This record gives sequence, structure tokens and C-alpha cells, in this order.
Amino acid sequence: MSENQSIKPVTTEEKNNLIIGGCDLADLAEKYGTPLYVIDEATVRGICRSYQDAFSEYPNIRMMYACKALCTSAIIRILDEEGFGFDVVSAGEIYTVYNSGVDMEKVLFNGNNKSKREIELALDYGVGRFSVDNFYEAELLNSVASAKNKQADVLLRITPGIECHTHDYIKTGQTDSKFGFDLSQIDDIVNLIKNDYKNLNLRGLHAHIGSQIFETQCYYDEVEILVKEIARIKDVHGISLNEMNIGGGLGVKYTEADNPPPVSVLARAVTSAMHKYAIDIPIIYIEPGRSVISTAGVTLYTVGSSKVVPGGKKYVALDGGMADNPRPSMYQAKYTAEVVNKLNNKEPEKVTLAGRYCESGDILIEDAELSGLEPGDIICVYNTGAYNYSMASNYNRVEKPAMVLVNNSHSDIIVYRETLDDLISKDCIPDRLKKND
Ligand code: LLP
Repeated sequence: MSENQSIKPVTTEEKNNLIIGGCDLADLAEKYGTPLYVIDEATVRGICRSYQDAFSEYPNIRMMYACKALCTSAIIRILDEEGFGFDVVSAGEIYTVYNSGVDMEKVLFNGNNKSKREIELALDYGVGRFSVDNFYEAELLNSVASAKNKQADVLLRITPGIECHTHDYIKTGQTDSKFGFDLSQIDDIVNLIKNDYKNLNLRGLHAHIGSQIFETQCYYDEVEILVKEIARIKDVHGISLNEMNIGGGLGVKYTEADNPPPVSVLARAVTSAMHKYAIDIPIIYIEPGRSVISTAGVTLYTVGSSKVVPGGKKYVALDGGMADNPRPSMYQAKYTAEVVNKLNNKEPEKVTLAGRYCESGDILIEDAELSGLEPGDIICVYNTGAYNYSMASNYNRVEKPAMVLVNNSHSDIIVYRETLDDLISKDCIPDRLKKND
């Protein structure tokens, strides 16, 4: 079983309390406060090795962690140690990766509207690859590179026309998508690069078919389309492309209803399509985000108020919610929770775990089966490593939680909890509004 097939981090144990990475979660809540993001290092390293093992027969593979899932300096260090490169999409991600000591040649810059400033920064920092998304960007990148007297190695982001079964907002491979060149536009962009954009070196193609994907057939289809397109470009334009980026997207198990395939099955789909269709096997980039970091993360909350509405439904409110985890309200995402300090209480009741934010839609889990909740109990919500902290906000002017890395019974803070002063640190009051004491 690979790590993405488990709801819980691999080191999860049930003693008196719930334990992860050898650390008692009630102790962590006490020491660092709640809400608290907890990341299990063994699970992160485990899934990295699952990726490396699954593709081990394929020497030309480059794993690029999709930083958008969770981008903090300590997480980048772990993935760098595990031999991953990085898919970045903003100046902030480039800056974080650079300052974490990564060899920038291992970094690929994605995104559908990179700004001039971001492109300049990427060229100055020596980012290894640019995935060019559209005509405007190709021209901009060429002119910025030319002004700096630099060459940019590029992949072309294409929309392969593949529909995957996932939430509409996180589908990207279908033809009606804001990302990438339509297959019918490829000849035009290749001609422009060949004839006009002298500072761009075309290396290969890139596609990303969506996120939280459970079917590997769509990866097989994607590889077929990319390989055939590379062959067609060679025929029509005489250009040999030696690189292919198949994006990310492998799903994880948020609840018992989810059944994601292991990394090995994904690898089999990719390599078998490659062996069937490719004559010269290219370098393959794969950009997993969620499957690398989601399972390793849990969020701890403290139980506060509760109420029973007419009809009997019970709401229990936690000290966090949609600002630290917007996924339930954005995508109707489902999660699994347990009570850290009441593992032996075996008479679960149905409760709705509500957040603390001023919005009716701020519900973390509907109909969770949890036992005898009382104020002060600690709740662990599983599988929050990806797209929680990275999409967190300060809604209601609430400080973002801290993040702790656990390993071998040891915990280290890797992101400090925001303070009230942090919240006002970027505010300014124009002189005419200042209060004269
Ligand atoms: N590569 C590209 C070009 C991407 O756009 C993405 C994700 C990835 C790789 C990584 O995909 P992953 O392996 O994480 O599925 N906020 C949403 C997910 C948005 C994904 C955006 N692109 C969520 O919380 O479900």
C-alpha cells in the first residue's frame, strides 16, 4: 500500500491518546495551542520513496513536487533531500524554494499568467524550466530573456482534451480550460519559437489533467497524446523534443469512500503507454502535490460550544474552520476526524463539526461519528497536509495556525503561529485619519 491510500499518517498509533510521529497529539495541542497543523515526516519521506521506487525502472524520470500544495521552507528541505525538484507558480514559491537552498536548475516555473517581474526573478535565480502557457507569455518571456541576454528552456503547456472524473474546479485537461495551448494552436507557437523567439529553447511538452484523480487510464491517454504530438512536431517542424511533463493529480484517501490507486499503478500506466507509443523515450517530469503531502498532515482543533437544533441535529463548534481549511466550503470536500483524547469511548454519536467563522457554510464535517464531545476535547482532522495552509486566509481577522513537524517522538515548529501584531503589521493609517491624543 502506498501512503496516499491511507487516511492517516503512517506513524499513527492509538494508545491512551492518539499518537503521530511518536508524539501525543494532546501534548502537542497543549504545547503549541490549536488550531495546529501537524506534519508527519515519516509519511512525507515514505511517499517520496514510493514515487522513486515505482518509477525506478524508468531512469529518465524527474519528480517535481507541486509547491502549491504546501510550500514552507522546512517542507522544501525534506523534499530536496528526497531528490525531488519543484514545480513553482509564483515569485513567492520561487523565493521560498531559493531560500531553502535548492539547486534552481531543478525548478520548473508553471502558471497561466506569469508577470514580467516574476519572469525576471525566475531568470535571475536560474530557474531550470519554464512551462509556457500561452502566446502572450511566450512573447513576454522571450523579450525579458533577450533583455537579460539569457536563454530560457521551455516546455509548452497544452490542453490534451482529456476529461477526468473529479470536481469541476480542479479539472484542467479538458479543452474548455483556462490553461495551456489548444492542440490546434501548437503549430503556430512552435513556428514562432523556431523563427522569432530566439531566446527560447523548446525542450518539450507539458500537460496536467486535473487533481484528486483515481483513474489511471487518463494518464495512459495523456501520455499517448503527448507522445504522438511530439512525433508530429518532429515530422512537421523537424524539431526533436526530448522532455514531457505529465503534471500531477494522483488522489488521496480523505474518507473510507475514497479509493485512490497506489503510485505503482500510476507508474505502470505511464510507463506502459510510453513503451507502447514512444520510439525515443523522453525525460518525464511528474508534478505531484497532494499525494506527496496530504496524508502526512493533520489539523488539531479544540472543541468549544455546541447546540442541538429542533429535529435533533447537533452542532459542535471548533476553534478553526474555513480560514485554515477552505476545502469543505469550496469543493464540498469530505474529511475524517477522531477525538484525540477519547479513543476508548466507543459510543459515537452523529455530530456536525462547525467552524468558528461567521458564515453558515463554515462546516468542516457533516455527520461525523464522534463520541461524547465536551469543551476542551481535541479533534484531529486527517489528511489536511495539502491545500489547507496553502489556501488559508485571515478571514475574520484570525491569526493563521502554527505548523509542527513530528518525527521519532520529537516535534519542531516549522511555521510560527501568527500574532495579533502580524495581523496589523501591514496596515497604515493616513496622517489625516490618525488619532491625536
Ligand atoms: N501541476 C500543475 C500544472 C497543477 O496545476 C497542479 C495542481 C499540480 C501539478 C499538482 O496537482 P496535485 O498532484 O496536487 O493534484 N486547491 C485544489 C487543488 C488545485 C490543484 C491545482 N493544480 C484542492 O484543494 O483540491
